[in-house]
Amino acid sequence: MALLETDTQLAAVQQFTKARMADDETGHGYDHIQRVVNNVKQLLAKGTGADQLVTISAAYLHDVTDDKLVEDVNAATDELTNFLKETHFSEDQVAEILEIIANMSFSKSLNGQNAKPLPIEGQLVQDADRLDAIGAIGIARAIYFGGHFGEKLYDPEIAPRVEMTKADYRDLSNETIINHFYEKLLKLKDRMNTNAAKEIATGRQKTMLEFLDNFKDEWDGIQ
Ligand code: ADP
Ligand code: NI
Repeated sequence: MALLETDTQLAAVQQFTKARMADDETGHGYDHIQRVVNNVKQLLAKGTGADQLVTISAAYLHDVTDDKLVEDVNAATDELTNFLKETHFSEDQVAEILEIIANMSFSKSLNGQNAKPLPIEGQLVQDADRLDAIGAIGIARAIYFGGHFGEKLYDPEIAPRVEMTKADYRDLSNETIINHFYEKLLKLKDRMNTNAAKEIATGRQKTMLEFLDNFKDEWDGIQ
């Protein structure tokens, strides 16, 4: 009975997310969510002791209240809270899911203030999300995002920014897609919370480094 309830809850969470993320054109669409959910299930399979319903639900929901996707974060959070209560999540589960999605994003770790430490469930979702920002998919998403926002592909005259606040990070006026790798994507491998994610990230890091090497050689006309 409990298992059936969990399946029904997850199906409802999936529907809720799908309805809100179908139209995204910045690389945060439902396909991203599906990959994050797949990643998190792989990490859960390593036996972490995490609560599976909370972890998988937070993976589905991690972008639905994000300030880059919704105009009114408070309204989106209220709507999500009501939905979770109606879907029979306990008060503790609702609180944990909201806490995870409010504190897991990369931009939250900027501004000098660290986001709150995450429970194991949140650490897994953060790792799963970060895995989808690196490797071949990460390369494709960065180019898709940069194209959407009119970033330059590359400009050797523009150096990657070393220290960034959240406002700097969201200021794309002097940003290039290639610099985004140095400002964020190449740093994610060492920021993974779990060893299982670190291991997957190591292979994906190689893919990005090879891409950057080849990109610069071709840019410079080196055959
Ligand atoms: P978070 O939700 O963790 O704050 P972001 O919104 O920064 O994450 O990133 C989500 C996706 O968009 C990632 O795949 C990331 O690489 C891409 N992205 C974010 N900023 C840029 C940028 N300036 N140029 C290219 N891609 C970007
Ligand atoms: Ni995400």
